[in-house]
Amino acid sequence: MSEITITVKQDDGDKVIKATSGANLLSILKENQIPIHTPCGGCGFCTCCKVEVFGKNGSTELLACRSSIYADCTIRVVPFP
Ligand code: FES
Repeated sequence: MSEITITVKQDDGDKVIKATSGANLLSILKENQIPIHTPCGGCGFCTCCKVEVFGKNGSTELLACRSSIYADCTIRVVPFP
């Protein structure tokens, strides 16, 4: 398993965190004290844990609890309304 770098865009500045390739994104965010709303506890049905992942061709939204990260990336936790 290799180490990856995730840049998390936040209102108070970017936070750069390290993680193991293939790790669950919600687990990574919680381990690094990134605030994220998870009322279903990561079961995948509340859709509150959305993150925006930025790539070369724009961005896409994923559920953090249902996503594993395999490469360096930049993300933003989508604010819960
Ligand atoms: S935490 Fe509820 S869908 Fe991800």
